[in-house]
Amino acid sequence: MATLIFGASGETGKLLTEQLLASGRKVKIIVRPVSNIPENWSRNENLTIIKRSITEISSDELAGYISNCQTAACCLGHNLTLKGVFGKPKRLVTDSVKLICEAIQKNSPSVPVRFVLMNTAGNSNRDLNEPVSFGQKIVIGLLRLFLPPHTDNEMAADYLRENIGQKNPCIEWAVVRPDNLTNEERVSEYSINKSPTRSAIFNAGKTSRINVAHFMAALITDDELWKKWKGQMPVIYNV
Ligand SMILES: NC(=O)c1ccc[n+]([C@@H]2O[C@H](COP(=O)([O-])OP(=O)(O)OC[C@H]3O[C@@H](n4cnc5c(N)ncnc54)[C@H](OP(=O)(O)O)[C@@H]3O)[C@@H](O)[C@H]2O)c1
Repeated sequence: MATLIFGASGETGKLLTEQLLASGRKVKIIVRPVSNIPENWSRNENLTIIKRSITEISSDELAGYISNCQTAACCLGHNLTLKGVFGKPKRLVTDSVKLICEAIQKNSPSVPVRFVLMNTAGNSNRDLNEPVSFGQKIVIGLLRLFLPPHTDNEMAADYLRENIGQKNPCIEWAVVRPDNLTNEERVSEYSINKSPTRSAIFNAGKTSRINVAHFMAALITDDELWKKWKGQMPVIYNV
């Protein structure tokens, strides 16, 4: 059984793909035809590369790609350019998450598909009563108004919480929330928390992309870890 990765050409998605391949897993990726991916990936027998934009795929087509996958992960995010942040698609992550869930449900898998979504510590888990200061509420309100990718991340996680929920027979999910992303060469010690332990706005922590990829890969491959975090929104910080 393979893992299907969305956003595999991105900085974190590449690391997740590499880590799963290094552990001997079969991986399928869906990347845009123009996406930049390592040249040696095309020679890896455990990797299937599908060159299609997620924004142009129907749920029927996606159901075909996902039918032999027991696990899926999404590291999609808006490119940090004016067009990426303010242009279309405004709901890249939310629409993709909806499409992925629709495709999985079309296949009616006998065992629920495990789906891990990369999100942000700037988003609250509204299933929990996460305390947010007055100042942070104001800033988040402004981000919702002026920074479409923030709302997109919030809506994507809300879709899993509210529409897929905790008892869906086809899908189990976890939303991974890193704080400010950094690039490091190696996996280092990191902490996993049910909720943020610091303010993502006024006292942000750091999370290296390689640690995010490591934790997402562990959720995909480690049944005990999955049982602990499924249906939740773990927050990850470098120690
Ligand atoms: N920056 C931070 O400090 C921070 C902190 C916490 C959370 N996050 C969240 O982390 C996530 C991933 O971060 P990252 O730095 O690893 O991302 P990234 O390197 O920017 O990768 C983004 C991925 O999304 C794809 N993508 C972008 N626009 C697309 C479109 N219109 N259609 C199809 N695919 C598209 C990219 O494909 P191409 O390669 O084809 O462009 C790429 O695979 C984002 O959701 C971000 O909000 C960021």
